[in-house]
Amino acid sequence: RHGWPGVIAAYPDRIPLPDNAKPVTLHEGGTPLVPAPHLSELTGCEVHLKVEGANPTGSFKDRGMTVAMTYALAQGARGVICASTGNTSASAAAYAARAGLECAVLVPRGKIALGKLSQAVMHGAHILQIDGNFDDCLELAAKTAAEYPIELVNSVNPVRLIGQRSAAWEICDELGRAPDVHCLPVGNAGNITAYWQGYSAYFGDGVIDTAPRMFGFQAAGAAPLVLGEPVAEPETIATAIRVGSPASWTGAVTARDESKGLFEAITDEKILEAYRLLAAREGVFVEPASATSVAGLLATSADGRLPRGSTVVCTLTGHGLKDPDTALRDVAEVEPVPVLASAVAAALELA
Ligand code: F0G
Repeated sequence: RHGWPGVIAAYPDRIPLPDNAKPVTLHEGGTPLVPAPHLSELTGCEVHLKVEGANPTGSFKDRGMTVAMTYALAQGARGVICASTGNTSASAAAYAARAGLECAVLVPRGKIALGKLSQAVMHGAHILQIDGNFDDCLELAAKTAAEYPIELVNSVNPVRLIGQRSAAWEICDELGRAPDVHCLPVGNAGNITAYWQGYSAYFGDGVIDTAPRMFGFQAAGAAPLVLGEPVAEPETIATAIRVGSPASWTGAVTARDESKGLFEAITDEKILEAYRLLAAREGVFVEPASATSVAGLLATSADGRLPRGSTVVCTLTGHGLKDPDTALRDVAEVEPVPVLASAVAAALELA
């Protein structure tokens, strides 16, 4: 949006900074809240999409990273470290570059989407591909930060989640109320925790009269919150949420319980269906993990748990260009077309 100053400057009273801190910002946030006519028709609800792929590095992580990096810089850190399934590392790398800090990212080897890896490369991060999953990476990053002079910028760093609350505030500011239901993909569970804190703060201050029910959706192969116990070997096509032991477990359970919401597991097949539907019918290209919120919307609408007539927001957490491999996976090699209108017409079956 024209003139949008970034989340720290947009919500100065709600995002406290250390004294004399100079915000590290790429003017993140202020993302589009787009009505979804096709999904609204399918569900009998008023569905809006919060398009977080429109953030500077293409995911919602920038909302927290601006705050985490501002603190790290103000507190004199020389470098930052994070574990990531890809988006946190892309965001940390970009904001560290902006701040002039060294950045190390620990990612599960072979399990991060190409776009995210290319971002970390271009922003000059030290990329360590770990022979383990995200949960191993997070444990390792936390240990390293505890023992060496390097700042952890995962969402276990509480200021990250303060920044991520801003998405809930933007939605309320724009709708003039809170939605009835909010659908989110859940991996490490920081974001659902942050949204609920954001809505709760607005409710507590009387900015909104009601808070939404929080619907959290996990991939079926990585659904510890649905199962009620950690998953040792999480697996899903939605690599962003391939997390077996979420750091913000308690925050997510609080969000569900206080909001009278739910957790539900979604198969990879249903995630991919929603992924294609969003691109083909709503014109919004997201990465697979992001489509989990919409797959969950459709599942809970079909089984009656989502009341018709509800105002619903689905957060689309990351841009489709993050993961070109999944988009092109089932596309066959195409024959080249000669430079002839008749050949174009024949290929399009116009004639
Ligand atoms: N969607 C996307 C695109 C993500 O990258 C993530 C998390 C989530 C949803 C889930 O959010 O973890 O707060 O529950 N990605 C982290 C990362 C794990 O390392 O980039 P969450």
